[in-house]
Amino acid sequence: MPKIRDASALDGPACAAIYTPYVTGTAITFETEPPTAAEMADRIARAQATHAWLVLEEEGDVIGYAYAGPMKPRAAYRWSCEVSVYLELGRRRTGGGRALYEALFERLTERGFRTAVAGMTLPNDASVGLHKAMGFEEIGTYRRIGWKLGGWHDVHWRQRPLAILPDPPAETR
Ligand SMILES: CC(C)(COP(=O)(O)OP(=O)(O)OC[C@H]1O[C@@H](n2cnc3c(N)ncnc32)[C@H](O)[C@@H]1OP(=O)(O)O)[C@@H](O)C(=O)NCCC(=O)NCCS
Repeated sequence: MPKIRDASALDGPACAAIYTPYVTGTAITFETEPPTAAEMADRIARAQATHAWLVLEEEGDVIGYAYAGPMKPRAAYRWSCEVSVYLELGRRRTGGGRALYEALFERLTERGFRTAVAGMTLPNDASVGLHKAMGFEEIGTYRRIGWKLGGWHDVHWRQRPLAILPDPPAETR
C-alpha cells in the first residue's frame, strides 16, 4: 500500500532520479540541466521550511513527490503558492498524483496558504486532467513561451483555493 510522508533532505537522490528523465527528455519542465541529488536535497529543505514537500513511497521506495513554493517573491503574493507533482516515469493513473496533491493541499491549508497555482506545458492530458479533477480553474495559456528540445511550447495555468479563512489573512505558519 503506497504511503505519503514528509520529505527530508535524505530524499534528494530519489527525487532527483524521478525528475531527471522529465528534464532531459520532455518539455514538461522548462529546466534543461538535471539538478544534482544535493541540489534536490536543498530544494526539499527550502520547501519544507516555508511550504511543503511530500513523497509517495511504495515498499520503501520513493515513487513520486509533490511540493509547493512561493508563487512570486513580492510580499502581497505570500499567501499564494505554486505547486507541482511528479511520479516515476511510466507510473500512471493509479491514484498517486491525486493522493499526493490531497495531502499537499491539506498541509498548505494548515499553514494558512490561500491559493495554489500550477503551470503545465501543453499538451499534458494527465496533468490538465489531474488539476481539473482537483478543482483547479483555468487562468489562461501563455503561447510559445518556452523553447526546449527544438520547439516552442505553450504553458497553461490553473488555480484553486486552499484555506478559507477570514480576512485580513494571518501570516502563514
Ligand atoms: C500528472 C501526474 C502527476 C498524474 O498522476 P496520476 O497518478 O497519473 O493521476 P491519478 O491516477 O491520481 O489521477 C487523478 C485524476 O486525474 C485525471 N487524470 C489522470 N490522468 C489522466 C489522463 N491521462 N487523461 C485525463 N485525465 C487524467 C483523472 O481525473 C484522474 O481521476 P480518475 O482516474 O478517477 O478518472 C502523472 O501523470 C505524472 O507524474 N506525469 C508526469 C509529470 C507531470 O506531468 N507532472 C505535472 C507537471 S505540471
